[in-house]
Amino acid sequence: MTRVAVLGAGAWGTALGKLLGAKGQHVMLLTEFEHEADLLNRDRCNERYLPGVDLPASLRATARMDEALAGAQIVIIVVPSDALRSVLGEARPHLPSEALVVIATKGIENGSLMTMGEVLADVLGPDIGHRGVAFSGPSFANEVAAGMPTAVVAASIDARAARAAQHALVNDRLRIYTSDDPVGVQVGGALKNVIALAAGASDGLGFGHNARAALITRGLAEIGRLAVAKGGQARTLAGLAGLGDLVLTCTGELSRNRTVGFELGRGRELGDVLASLGHVAEGVKTAKSAYHLAARIGVDMPITAEVYRVLYEGKPPRRAVEDLMHRALKDEY
Ligand SMILES: NC(=O)c1ccc[n+]([C@@H]2O[C@H](COP(=O)([O-])OP(=O)(O)OC[C@H]3O[C@@H](n4cnc5c(N)ncnc54)[C@H](O)[C@@H]3O)[C@@H](O)[C@H]2O)c1
Repeated sequence: MTRVAVLGAGAWGTALGKLLGAKGQHVMLLTEFEHEADLLNRDRCNERYLPGVDLPASLRATARMDEALAGAQIVIIVVPSDALRSVLGEARPHLPSEALVVIATKGIENGSLMTMGEVLADVLGPDIGHRGVAFSGPSFANEVAAGMPTAVVAASIDARAARAAQHALVNDRLRIYTSDDPVGVQVGGALKNVIALAAGASDGLGFGHNARAALITRGLAEIGRLAVAKGGQARTLAGLAGLGDLVLTCTGELSRNRTVGFELGRGRELGDVLASLGHVAEGVKTAKSAYHLAARIGVDMPITAEVYRVLYEGKPPRRAVEDLMHRALKDEY
C-alpha cells in the first residue's frame, strides 16, 4: 500500500485523494483548518469543496503537516498558487527525503514571477527537480471524481519520476501521458486560465463563437511564446496541458476563470464576482504575474496584457476587445 499525502483539500485535492484512495492507497489529505479535517473524517465527504462525492475509507484528513507527511512516498501539492511557498516551507522539515513531489497547482507566483516548479526548487533546493513532477491537463475535479474519462500529463526532467506519477495516479478512467517538459506543461496550465478570462468576457459581452475561437487560437500562440522563452518545448502546447486544457477552460461551463470573465463581460465588478465564487480563480493572480513576466523577458502577449488591464486598471472589457482588433496587422506566424 503506497502512502500518499495530498496537501490541499479543495475540489482538486479531494478528487485526487478519492481517486488514490479508491486504488487502495493510504491517503492523508491536508486541510487548512482542523474543523475541516474533523468534518471530513466524520462525514466521509467534503461538502464545502466537492459536495456529494463519497470518500473511501483509506483516505483520512488532517490539518497537521507532520501527520500528513509521515512516511509519505508520494506528496501531491494542490493548494492555490499563492499558498504554495508557505505550504512548502511548512512541509520542508517533515518531507521524507525520497518522496516523489507532484505539483497539481496551476499558476505563476506574484512578485517572484516564478512557475510552481521554480517555487518548489527555490524552497526545497534544485535537486528536487529529479523527484518533482508537474501534473496538468484538462481535468475538472467534479468530472474526475465522477469517474468520467479524462486524460492528463505528468511531466518531469527525470523520466523515472514522471513514470512513477503516471503509475500512481492512473486508473481506468484517468489516462496519464508522461512528458519531459515540465516547463511547457506548467506554463500551459497557468496561462490557460488567463485566456479563459478573456474568452469568458467575450461571451459575456455577447460576442460569438468566432471571437472565442480566435481568443483560444491566438491565446495558444502567446502561451507558446512564453513557454519557449522560459525553456519549454513548443509542441507541448499542442498537447493536453496546452490546447487540451485551454479548450476545456475557455468553453466549459464548470470553468471558474471563464465564469469570472463572463461576469466581467456582463458588467459586474471583479471584487463582487470573486466574493461570490467560493473557490480560487487562479487566472486573476496569474494575469498579473504573466503580464509582468512577459514584460521582463520581452514576450509579446497582447491578450494577457488586455486581461491584466481589465482586472487591474479597470479597463472596460469592450474596449479591451476593440484594442485587440485594432492592433497593427501582421503575419499569423
Ligand atoms: N478544480 C479543478 O478542477 C482543478 C483541476 C486541475 C487543477 N486545479 C488547480 O489546483 C489548485 C487548487 O484548486 P482547487 O480547485 O482545489 O481550489 P479550491 O478553491 O477548491 O480549494 C483550495 C483549497 O486550498 C486550501 N488552502 C488554501 N491555503 C492553504 C494553506 N495555506 N494550507 C493548506 N490548505 C490551503 C483551501 O482551504 C481549500 O481547501 C489550483 O491551482 C487549480 O488551478 C484545479
